[in-house]
This record gives sequence, C-alpha cells and structure tokens, in this order.
Amino acid sequence: MQYDIGMVGLGVMGRNLLLNLADHGFRVIGLDTDPGKVQALKTEGNRDTVDATLDAKAFLTAQRLPRAIILLVPAGKAVDAVINKLAPNLSQGDLLIDAGNSHFKDTDRRYNELAAKGLNFFGMGVSGGEAGARGGPAMMPGGPRAAYDRVKPMLDAIAAKVNGDPCVDYIGSGSAGHYVKMVHNGIEYGIMQLLAEVYDILHRGAGLTNPELADLFQSWHDGELNSFLVEITAKIFRKLDPKTGKHLVDVILDVARQKGTGKWTSQEAMDLQVPLMTIDAAVSSRDISAYDVERMQASKVYAGIGTNWSGDRAALQTIARNATYAAVLLIYAQGFAMLRKASTTYSFGLDLGTIAKIWRGGCIIRSTMLETFRTAFAEQPDLPNLLLSSKIAPDLARCHTGLRSLIASAITLGIPCAALMNSLAYFDAYRSARLPMNLTQAQRDLFGAHTYERIDEKGTFHTKWEE
Ligand code: 6PG
Repeated sequence: MQYDIGMVGLGVMGRNLLLNLADHGFRVIGLDTDPGKVQALKTEGNRDTVDATLDAKAFLTAQRLPRAIILLVPAGKAVDAVINKLAPNLSQGDLLIDAGNSHFKDTDRRYNELAAKGLNFFGMGVSGGEAGARGGPAMMPGGPRAAYDRVKPMLDAIAAKVNGDPCVDYIGSGSAGHYVKMVHNGIEYGIMQLLAEVYDILHRGAGLTNPELADLFQSWHDGELNSFLVEITAKIFRKLDPKTGKHLVDVILDVARQKGTGKWTSQEAMDLQVPLMTIDAAVSSRDISAYDVERMQASKVYAGIGTNWSGDRAALQTIARNATYAAVLLIYAQGFAMLRKASTTYSFGLDLGTIAKIWRGGCIIRSTMLETFRTAFAEQPDLPNLLLSSKIAPDLARCHTGLRSLIASAITLGIPCAALMNSLAYFDAYRSARLPMNLTQAQRDLFGAHTYERIDEKGTFHTKWEE
C-alpha cells in the first residue's frame, strides 16, 4: 500500500483532518507516540484507506514518493522534535506541512534549514477547530509554490467551500501561511472581545436576559452581521448548565486564557509599526481579566461608580448592532492593513483578495463581510486600507454613530469597553487629516533636538525653543 499523505500527531485536529482526507478518497497513514491514539484511528478509519502506526520508519516507507506529511503537533519544541526525527529518513523533494499555530519566525527558520537539505516545508494555518478539521476547514499554506501545486488537489478537496470555491489557496512564500493565520487569530481576539463588551453593556448594564441576548444575536446573525462568532454567541446564551440548571455562561469564571497568537499579532504589529489598536485592547483585556483577585478588591474600593441604566432598551439594541457592525469592520480593516505592510516588509507576495476569499468559510472569523472585502480587493488590488474602499465607507458612515453612542453609554454605566473605544479611536485617527503630533514633534525637538519637518517647506528643522 502506498499512502498518498501522512499525518504526524493524532490528537483532535490531526485525527479529524486525516479522516477528512480519507473521506475524500485519499489513502492516509498516521503516526503518533500514543498507542491509544494509534489504535483509536485504526478502529475508526476504513481499513482500506486509513492506517496508523507508532513506528516512524514504517510510516515513511508506507508513503509514495515524493512524500507529503502534515504535522499536527503542539507549536514549539514538539515541531522541531518531529522534524529532527523524520528529516534524516526523508527523500529529496519530500514536503513537510506544519499545520499547527507555529510562530512565523520558527517557520522561517525551519523552512531554511530544510531547504538546505533539499526538503520542502510549508507553514499552513488551519482554522475551524475540530468540526472544521473533519468537515471542511479554511487553510492558509505558505512555502514553495511548486510543492503546493502537488498537494493542491488534496487541500482543495478537504477545504470548506463557499459558492463552490475551496477555502484554501496558495498564500505566499516562506512563512506567509503562518503569518496570515497569526493575523486571523488576532482578528479573532478582536471580534471576540467586542462581542464580550457588547454583551456586558446589554446584560450587566441594561439588564437584557440571556434568552433576550440569544434572540438578539441570532437576529444579527440573520442580517448583516452574519458570521460564525455571532452565531455561536447566540447559541451560548441558550445553553443551560446540567449541574445547576442555570445558564451555563453565568457559571463560567470570567478569566480568559490564551495560547498567545493574539499577543504575537500585537507584538508583530508594534515591530512593523502598524496600528492595531483593537487587537492590542483585546489582548490587554484578556490580561486584565486574569487579575481576578485584585479586581474583586478594587470593586469594593470603587463601589458605586457608574450609573444604572435608565434609557430606551429597544433603541440601545439598535445602537449595539450598528456599533458591533462598525467595530467588526474596523477590526478587519486593521488586520488587512497589517497584512498589506507585512507583505511588503517580508516579500510574501500576499494577495489580500485571495485571503478574504479563503476566510469567507471554514475559519473562526468567517462572515459574509469577507465577500465584500474580496470584491473590494479584486477591484482595487493595491487598496491600502479597506476604510478607503467605496464598498466599505458608506457602511461606516452609517454605523459609526452607533459606536459613539454605545461607548457613551458604557462610560456612564462604568462598564469597560476597550475594544469598542479603540476601534473608534482607530477610525477617528485614520480619518483625521491633521493629528496633534505636530505638538509631539515640537516637544521632541525641544527636549532632545530630534528635529521636525514643516508643512510649508521641505527638509528637517531644529529650533532653540528656550533662550
Ligand atoms: C482557529 C482558532 C484556533 C484556536 C485559537 C485559540 O482558527 O481554529 O484560532 O487556532 O482555537 O488559537 O486561541 P487562544 O487559546 O489563544 O484563545
């Protein structure tokens, strides 16, 4: 038996992606160090097309050449350990595909190390969680183009489809695939934080019940906010806790954990000097949630700050929808603008329209808005920022007042809304023809002779500000 593709790591993602491949007629073999996982796959998979082993040599000899091997092991040292184990027994032209959430700088290093040995390496972002892996994920493969063409039929077959188009395409050279997945996750953090803040304002602030919130979010999902994250949020508000009979969301501890991809996005944006204000706020908001003991103390010190809700609940719901729509648009705009800058900086050769096309389905940030972005980039491939697109601007012009009003309510209620505020700050800064950094420049020149430029003359200038 010559298997078409191998999978290293038979955890939730690896097993489901492998079974997805088998569903589409590919012969697949899995490798894991856990006998339980190997046996589970042998039992679950069709014996004619699926096999699994604990033995790395048997795994490699069972595959046809040149091999294509997907790695789905935890990001970090485990990826290097698997590569070091397999590489000595691989053949020229074989392709390793790291489908975990690896840092793009690790991917660059591995890409170069393996290229020196005549081996191909892809960093491939995979999004959609367990259900996506089994039923159709979005995939973002980056690396050597010729190797991509070899696995394209397999990736096209297993990807989610939107209007018949697979949610996968060649992303670009080097670590482009993992880079784009990192930004995907940054956007994911941003949207999740926004939804959490809107929930807080409506629930803690205005007293909407969980069933009311479920209906509201479902109605948003049925309209222009159609998206996976809004849809699952509606479902979450309906779920009851079998232990207590209460709504499950009410008994979940309010501390957000993180594996770090959102933080990487913010760190990288700082390095690139790209403003990513909402995603920065989302990461910090998860961070402050972890200070739960101090928050509890401070809530007693500052008790009574903030008013009680006394407005029109129906009007607030309309405001909240418009605010959410505007803020989500602004998050995508920041993410795509970051990709634009990264593409130039790292020579990735990204096509933002292709990325929007991939993100329309299968992934966590999928939404119908992505189709609008795809057409915006198709019409204007060099569009620097979605906010400058005639397809987006009218929507923001319509909805930004909702964002302002919702933030105003949150401020008077004393409810934190850093992501909403930073989305608006990004919008207001981006659309300001003149920002107050003339003053910053003057200060820098006064205390450090850092010089400044003038609006009426070319060159750099220094002034002796104090006699
Ligand atoms: C996806 C998700 C996936 C993972 C998140 C969770 O696209 O399917 O992004 O990769 O669930 O990275 O991230 P945190 O644990 O950092 O919230």
